Amino acid sequence: MTERQTNRTVEETADVVILGAGPAGLTLGNLLHAAGIDCVVLERADRAHVQTRARAGFLAANTVRVLDRHGLAAGLHRRGQPHGTCEFRTENGSFRLDYGALGRRELHTVYPQQDLVDDLLTHYLEAGGRIAFGTEAQSVRDAAGPNPTVDVRDAEGRPGRWRARYVAGCDGRHGAARRSLPAGTLRHQRDHGVSWLGLIAEAPPSLDAVGYAMHPDGFAGHMARTADITRYYLQCERGTPADAWSEDRIWAALDRRMGAAEHGPLRHGRILQRSVIDLESDVVEPLRHGSLLLAGDAASLPAPAAAKGANLAVLEAELLAEALVDELSHDDSRALDRYSERCLQHIWRAQEFAHWMIQLLHSPLLNPTAGPAEESFFHESMRRARVESLRTSRTHQDWFAENYVGI
Ligand code: APR
Repeated sequence: MTERQTNRTVEETADVVILGAGPAGLTLGNLLHAAGIDCVVLERADRAHVQTRARAGFLAANTVRVLDRHGLAAGLHRRGQPHGTCEFRTENGSFRLDYGALGRRELHTVYPQQDLVDDLLTHYLEAGGRIAFGTEAQSVRDAAGPNPTVDVRDAEGRPGRWRARYVAGCDGRHGAARRSLPAGTLRHQRDHGVSWLGLIAEAPPSLDAVGYAMHPDGFAGHMARTADITRYYLQCERGTPADAWSEDRIWAALDRRMGAAEHGPLRHGRILQRSVIDLESDVVEPLRHGSLLLAGDAASLPAPAAAKGANLAVLEAELLAEALVDELSHDDSRALDRYSERCLQHIWRAQEFAHWMIQLLHSPLLNPTAGPAEESFFHESMRRARVESLRTSRTHQDWFAENYVGI
């Protein structure tokens, strides 16, 4: 009779238990495993779901550098597309910014997140890394001490426990790591009062640039994902059900807001995936609670207006890996002691730029939380001046490029 059949809680150990197999958890797992650190990744979903879940796909230059440094970038070099142009469309005309030739002259790489996650997972498993799929972390205990534990349930609902030296919470905004934080933890939150209908369309990109349309009806966005798949965003009213808009209505709104009459038709196609995104941001502070450390969306959620989420996740994973290797292999805790402060510098910079982008792309006249009308008109006029400055000022364009690609 095995321990499992008796339903007794099985306890397993690892020096580092990583919660979540997203960009943060898998980057961390690869780096720790390569450094000879005994680690395990616990992932609630099954392997197929992790490898096929379509999310972001706009990698910053720094993310490519980090992945290159650790031999994890072969896939994105083979199939990723360099990207360096934005097109802003307003009712008063449009302008393009070749941001790859501005600021630090850095480019994005368009590479679907599910492909990146698949690469990271394959590399981790081929290197002999440990991962338990279908294993949901319930809570992290005793993180104040040197031997935290993670209570889990496996795919059959059986309880288990992992004992560790450190727990890395890379399980997102609603994961067990966040739920296990001590009461006094700060959570800075902001609701930007804007919602988007996020769409994945089975249609080739219609622009050779990221398209940002600021239309009186609301914002619309166009981002290439692959040669056959395009990501679109449509500003919608808060509380709009994801299936409320018919495909015809979606394409009519996209055509109108993107100015198809003036700039040429958009290439239509079947809507493969849709979701409503309320633009919210939050930041947990500090990111370390004894032996529990946060990275990725578990640490902070930047509103998706500036493609910072996955890029912060990879940056934080490298900083955390370096700090844990110093501590566990060289008994040097200096980097671990500075981990939270170092990440928060990048996080707040990303939050500041995401907030600036939201203010640029969305008219306060359409935002019910923007305050009284006269104030909204004032903000709207400032917003238009900001767009005009971005169109005409080289200094502003350099600043934009540095923060748009930088992390
Ligand atoms: N136990 C185990 N795994 C969990 C739990 C749990 N309690 N809760 C969530 N998970 C898993 C999810 O199934 C997911 O695979 O944690 C993983 C978190 O991965 P992501 O959400 O991709 O988060 P992260 O690695 O921080 O990357 C964040 O990537 O998707 C982009 O833009 C997005 O900003 C986001 C960034």
